[in-house]
Amino acid sequence: MPRGLFITLEGLDGSGKTTQCRRLASWLASRFPGDEPVLTRQPGGTELGDRLRALLLDSRESAIAPMAEMALMFADRAQSIAAIIEPALVEGKIVLCDRFTDSTEAYQGGGRGIGSEVVLALHRLLCDNLQPDLTLLLLPSLETSLERARRRNQRAVEIQGQDENRFEKEQDAFYRRVWEKYREIAAREPHRVALIEGDLSIDAVFEKIVEAVATLLNAHIAV
Ligand code: TYD
Repeated sequence: MPRGLFITLEGLDGSGKTTQCRRLASWLASRFPGDEPVLTRQPGGTELGDRLRALLLDSRESAIAPMAEMALMFADRAQSIAAIIEPALVEGKIVLCDRFTDSTEAYQGGGRGIGSEVVLALHRLLCDNLQPDLTLLLLPSLETSLERARRRNQRAVEIQGQDENRFEKEQDAFYRRVWEKYREIAAREPHRVALIEGDLSIDAVFEKIVEAVATLLNAHIAV
């Protein structure tokens, strides 16, 4: 059985990543009937991961030190690789993961100022350096990203009467560092990362996603 394909989606909060991830999953499912892709997300997706996610995203929790936050992200990821991603790849499946180690490099490495080196070293150590075959990085302009994140956070507060996501409360300066780190990753690894930039419509972004995924699938089938 040939190994499957590992595709990750990345971007700032409010980049429309989760919507696109679901859309891509149905596109793949219709292209490969009976062989649905495995859709997961980080943090979360496993029993341990969902508990870690609740800890990490609940703004009522007391502040988590940046190193502890990074360690929890990697604990979640190591479990997700062992329980979901690696078994599915071995079975020849396509795995779609909403966020992966680029998020840790961008948010903890860039946003929290830990730097890339330690994140990449932990990835080698704890995740066997597992690399996506393709990363779709959605990066609208910084201004648009900030605006969307704020609006989404506001809606969550109104609907639930609570602030669900402590990350979304971070300052604009934090998001600017995250955004810049993402651009740095894309420039460093252009073969892996498809950078989808600009303030495009949902349909226009999806077209670009399909283009990048189709190229990957064609190359995979040709091998
Ligand atoms: P989530 O609600 O999944 O946001 P989104 O829908 O935008 O993906 O929350 C995930 C949050 O966790 C998001 O703000 C990014 C953050 N995060 C990190 O800081 N480091 C990580 O390694 C990961 C995976 C996520």
